[in-house]
Amino acid sequence: MLELRNPDAPAVPGEATAWKRKDLLDTDTLSEAELHLIMETAEAMREVRARPVGKVATLRGFTVITLFYEQSTRTRASFEVAAKALGADVVNLTASGSSVEKGETLIDTVRTLEAIGADLVVMRHPKSGAPYLAARNTAAGIINGGDGTHAHPTQALLDLFTMRRHVGDLAGKKVAIVGDILHSRVARSNLWTLLASGADVTLCGPATLLPKTLAASTGEGARCTVTTRMEDAIEGADIVMALRMQKERQDRGLIPSLREYIASYQVNSRRLALAKPGALVMHPGPMNEGIEIAPEVAHGLDSVIEEQVANGVAVRMAILYLMATGRHA
Ligand code: NCD
Repeated sequence: MLELRNPDAPAVPGEATAWKRKDLLDTDTLSEAELHLIMETAEAMREVRARPVGKVATLRGFTVITLFYEQSTRTRASFEVAAKALGADVVNLTASGSSVEKGETLIDTVRTLEAIGADLVVMRHPKSGAPYLAARNTAAGIINGGDGTHAHPTQALLDLFTMRRHVGDLAGKKVAIVGDILHSRVARSNLWTLLASGADVTLCGPATLLPKTLAASTGEGARCTVTTRMEDAIEGADIVMALRMQKERQDRGLIPSLREYIASYQVNSRRLALAKPGALVMHPGPMNEGIEIAPEVAHGLDSVIEEQVANGVAVRMAILYLMATGRHA
């Protein structure tokens, strides 16, 4: 059984009615009460988005800077749309990984952004842990928009929001996360929110793409299991989440060939038939259609992949709102 959360975090829903964190770096220390607060706030933001104008001026005067050292379409655009929908000023910065190899340079960068007037910095970085270094060195709030293979908290939160809208309470629900688990910050952050919500999680992929530490921590009675057999993972699942094959992080030839991967691990309609009828199909995007997911499944009736993207705006509005207006030391 995995250790779920920081023992110092409040565990009773309703206990933390206000947001007290300066930064959002991962989902591992979020309490049930904080998850609940984010979900409720996101629901309110979704209602704002559904109005004819879809904007409010709550964060007028706040400055949000997106600082992306790695490619992104939906995360960056979604944060920008979310910040603008709340009336904040937004500045978008991108940088090539090579110009910021040194920790000190990153520290200088965030301090500069703070001096410019950034209240919140949304940061994506190819190195795991980089946002933690940034957070320790600035008074601005740091939101992790994905760090290396480590964490992607806002993706996990929008996934949780989407699941809850369709499935309701996740307690006892079976969630299969399949594909390139080893390189997936999405899988890691989802694991925390799903276990905290009472779901049973099965992680599935070829042995070379499954982290050994995770495999070692599961056993009889564990709520997170790890398997190399797709049939075991998908059988009876309420939710099936496919992950992108991260070709850019496959530097060690961890799979023999894409053709073999497709034959054994693609989420296709034949395999999906093993899941519960109407099981949700999810993918964080960007998709390699025809590799980890078959087009008929990606665009099928049970797919909520586009809805995940739309919900991402409401969930990021909720995060920006809570962080900008929360009280922290
Ligand atoms: C993911 C990411 O960048 O971590 N995409 C996203 O943010 N929606 C997943 C991926 O790159 O495969």
